[in-house]
Amino acid sequence: MSPAEVETLPPGGADALRRERCRGLLAEARERTLRIVAPVHEADMNRVHDPLMSPLVWDLGHIAAYEELWACQRVGGLEPLHPELSEVYDAAETPRTARGETPYLRLDEALEYMDVVRERTLAALAASDLSGGSHRLSREGFVWEMLIQHEHQHNETMLQTLRLAEPGVYRPRSRPMPAPSDASGPEMVLVEAGPFPLGAGMERFAYDNELPQHEVSLPAFELDRTAVTNGAFREFVESGGYRRRECWSEPGWDWRCEAGVERPLYWTDDGRERIFHRVEQLADELPVMHVSWYEADAYARWRGKRLPSEAEWEKAASWEPEAGAKRRFPWGDDPPSRVRANVDQTGFRPAPVDAHSDGASAYGALGLIGDAWEWTASDFGPYPGFEAFPYREYSEVFFGSGHKVLRGGSWATRAHTIRNTLRNWDLPGRRQIHTGFRCAADA
Ligand SMILES: [Fe+2]
Repeated sequence: MSPAEVETLPPGGADALRRERCRGLLAEARERTLRIVAPVHEADMNRVHDPLMSPLVWDLGHIAAYEELWACQRVGGLEPLHPELSEVYDAAETPRTARGETPYLRLDEALEYMDVVRERTLAALAASDLSGGSHRLSREGFVWEMLIQHEHQHNETMLQTLRLAEPGVYRPRSRPMPAPSDASGPEMVLVEAGPFPLGAGMERFAYDNELPQHEVSLPAFELDRTAVTNGAFREFVESGGYRRRECWSEPGWDWRCEAGVERPLYWTDDGRERIFHRVEQLADELPVMHVSWYEADAYARWRGKRLPSEAEWEKAASWEPEAGAKRRFPWGDDPPSRVRANVDQTGFRPAPVDAHSDGASAYGALGLIGDAWEWTASDFGPYPGFEAFPYREYSEVFFGSGHKVLRGGSWATRAHTIRNTLRNWDLPGRRQIHTGFRCAADA
């Protein structure tokens, strides 16, 4: 199935059609998971590559355990296959730092567990009512879509682990990326003052933290037309930005001093960048990536700008002022394609920041979806009227704990999973995530 065909389950419609689509998406998600790890040696699947990340094989067992919990147990009413493993694969019970110590299934056992669960899952799917009914989990295919997107999201996590692993553990072949655009444009685009609906509409799948959609009124602001490039960030580095206290917030300066950080995570001290096993000359036109929120914030201060709030980001990405309507993606409602955005993993690298002119938002901003997640100024918290569903540990337990919101997905995000309203979050000192940023300013 190509990324263009990968669309969320249609609302309403015949039950049989939805079930068939669901089977196709589940199979496609599994095919991708296995394709990502196929070249990784067994020993490298089973071990910890970085204290921040789980062993890759833990992700495989966890994908199956999550599927078993929601499809087989909660929807299908079946007993667990391995009750002794439920704690091992519970992300909330076993934080990443402790996962290397737990009795997780090793590669062959994990693959077998995935197969057995999938068989039971498909039986539960065949027997479930997807059209509506009293079971909120199954209504409109919610739980099935949640499983598909969960597996997609773990694919991106696994690619973070593989990027952190020592050079040579993973040698993906990158797809050639489009050239930088030869059309010029303004440095920043203007977004007019006024209200827009923040959050997801009820007609499509959304996580609880994207709901409820509610009106937010923003003053006029400007947003960088593209993400901050390697070339622009190098100016900050070369001007001594990492040593200039006045560029940094207090916690940012403490983080910088303690971590001893002098440049983005994968930059080398001789002006090159490591992308998996290759070390290349730093390409000025690519988005700067693998910087912490603190580094993004310091750069923005140095430029005399600031990071956008997540509401500003979403308005610039989704609002169409002439039509007074909200778009699902910056370019409209059609799903991502290669001419609009660099998503869906198989490129294995970002594209030049202005390469996808067909992906422009109504305001003319480029690259809001794909290439690199973008840090926003906002803390991760609930929208007014938030209701946890189907479990508190997905979103609610992270509210108010100092996590910053990221938007827009990266090259490593599945096309099926990304949308203008999707909220991701991480701690401000983290750099393993495929993230960059762009700046904003008051108009
Ligand atoms: Fe998970």
